Amino acid sequence: MPLPKAELHLHIEGTLEPELAFALAARNGVTLPYADTEELRAAYRFGDLQSFLDLYYALMAVLRTPEDFTALADAYLERAAAQGVRHAEIFFDPQAHTARGVPFAAVIEGLGASLDRSEERYGISTRLIMCFLRDESAESALATLESARPYLDRITGVGLDSAEAGNPPAKFRAVYEEAARLGLRRVAHAGEEGPAAYVREALDVLGVERIDHGLRCMEDPELVARLVRERIPLTLCPLSNVRLRVVDTLADHPLPAMLDAGLMVTVNSDDPAYFGGYAGDNYDAVREALSLGPEQLRTLARQSFEASFLEDDEPRRARYLAEVEAYAF
Ligand code: ADE
Ligand code: ZN
Repeated sequence: MPLPKAELHLHIEGTLEPELAFALAARNGVTLPYADTEELRAAYRFGDLQSFLDLYYALMAVLRTPEDFTALADAYLERAAAQGVRHAEIFFDPQAHTARGVPFAAVIEGLGASLDRSEERYGISTRLIMCFLRDESAESALATLESARPYLDRITGVGLDSAEAGNPPAKFRAVYEEAARLGLRRVAHAGEEGPAAYVREALDVLGVERIDHGLRCMEDPELVARLVRERIPLTLCPLSNVRLRVVDTLADHPLPAMLDAGLMVTVNSDDPAYFGGYAGDNYDAVREALSLGPEQLRTLARQSFEASFLEDDEPRRARYLAEVEAYAF
């Protein structure tokens, strides 16, 4: 039995495996510029975040109907369950779909149909986090939040993703203020390719409770001290960091130093179809490459539930934490 864990950094569009991409392409009459799944997989060699994003957005062309989004989420949840995921906080990128003429309603209703049965089918409780694309305008983010209004009962929080360099958090001050007024939780990608200063800005200007990635905080000791003091969770994605060349090899990953510093780090998969592994694969990879012991792995799993948006008084939180403490390695 795998170690129970929460997945807090997972883009649902990044779970699109080549086999499903071709199946949906056939169903929707979309022609992909690859002969087969093998040729598509061969394209998964990325020099940086942007080279990945180019393929990630291009492949979304196959996602058109609510049923497509349901199939995507079902496939993810089934794989995640097999790797010990008990709770998943799932990002989605509405602007990447509405820009292609897919209605917001198709995306959220399709995902919702899957998530509604997730606990019963897969034993995974879920939350949805709507991300704004930071390389699009602040006005587009505000319009997206407007589109989400009828569905706020389905959405736990907002996030910020896509090309980080040159798109600082402060660009989205207004939409995060409005999200806070609506009672939404707030997270943001920061310190993946962008500087440590973006991590600070996401905290101070956007009021985020959690930082996605954040590993470049290690360049700023004062910021590290603050993140430790305020127990701000960082959702690390080690296999993603290797594939997007944020670190050279897994052995160079700062995860052990971050744990030693007392940072509230968690391990997640980001875009598992593209980066070589789901949540459990990421745990296995860091255990091997960084020689993590059982108590360090238990700490990572415990922190994943503590950093989640499960309410403090929600019985699931205590139940999952008890499962982590009882886990026999
Ligand atoms: N969108 C999907 N994956 C992402 C990542 N790793 N960084 C920024 N935006 C993303
Ligand atoms: Zn991400």
